[in-house]
Amino acid sequence: MIVEDISSRKQAESELAATQTELVRVSRFTAMGELAASIAHEVNQPLSAIATNSQAALRWMSRDRPDLNEVAAALNRVYRDANLAGDVIARIRNFLSRGGIKHERIAVQHILYDLLRMLHNLFQESGVQVTVLVSPALPNLNADKVQLQQVLLNLLINAVEAMREQAPGQRLLSITVTEQATQGIVFTVCDSGPGIAPEMQPKIFDALFSTKNDGLGMGLAISRSIVENHGGWLRLEPGGDTGACFRFNIPLLP
Ligand SMILES: Nc1ncnc2c1ncn2[C@@H]1O[C@H](COP(=O)(O)OP(=O)(O)OP(=O)(O)O)[C@@H](O)[C@H]1O
Ligand SMILES: [Mg+2]
Repeated sequence: MIVEDISSRKQAESELAATQTELVRVSRFTAMGELAASIAHEVNQPLSAIATNSQAALRWMSRDRPDLNEVAAALNRVYRDANLAGDVIARIRNFLSRGGIKHERIAVQHILYDLLRMLHNLFQESGVQVTVLVSPALPNLNADKVQLQQVLLNLLINAVEAMREQAPGQRLLSITVTEQATQGIVFTVCDSGPGIAPEMQPKIFDALFSTKNDGLGMGLAISRSIVENHGGWLRLEPGGDTGACFRFNIPLLP
């Protein structure tokens, strides 16, 4: 009787963990997918209008007797739509940089351990060994918890994805959190994957840059905006023999 109880509880627990992992994946992809789809949609309309109107202008000009009024009208529409497309981009930038940032006092452990608990299953399924080093007695952060977790989530998922081809037992992920006098709290996420070729390094933070079949290329771009929004920086650490190390800081309030 007792044995049955325990095994059914174990099963329920592992189902719960699987659901949580799936949720992490889905909510992340939905949020990014929606953002990318809305960018694509909103920018695409003025862009195709620009293509149509510039062709019209060319046609009016290439007539035997060019109609300069029509050319000017078409070019005005081009100008208007180019501004519209620019506005969309400005709105997205604004959304990414200021969009509803909440400042709350939070403990580093709190941010990190909630997230690690959520990802436990993914790490196990992917055969990734995780080491966490958090300096003792870190001061509280003044930051948006959900956004910071989003940054860590993007870095951790990139690390797991990068190590897929490594031999089992050689998929090592380390997370270090320390305090530095001028920088505030510094987070470092390192993996033992193939690393990033020097010629690719300048591009990885660009929105929509991805080398993955199913990647949107938004993870690092969004993460960098979030961190910069908190007054910090996010970068790839130079050097290292293997793997990639990303580091970001969250400054402490004066
Ligand atoms: N830890 C890493 N090791 C190796 N390459 C990496 C690592 N992290 C990022 N990259 C490279 O940088 C690119 C951009 O990463 P980014 O997280 O912005 O997008 P993505 O992971 O491809 O897609 P998604 O939008 O789902 O995050 C990746 O496609 C990959 O080539
Ligand atoms: Mg990513």
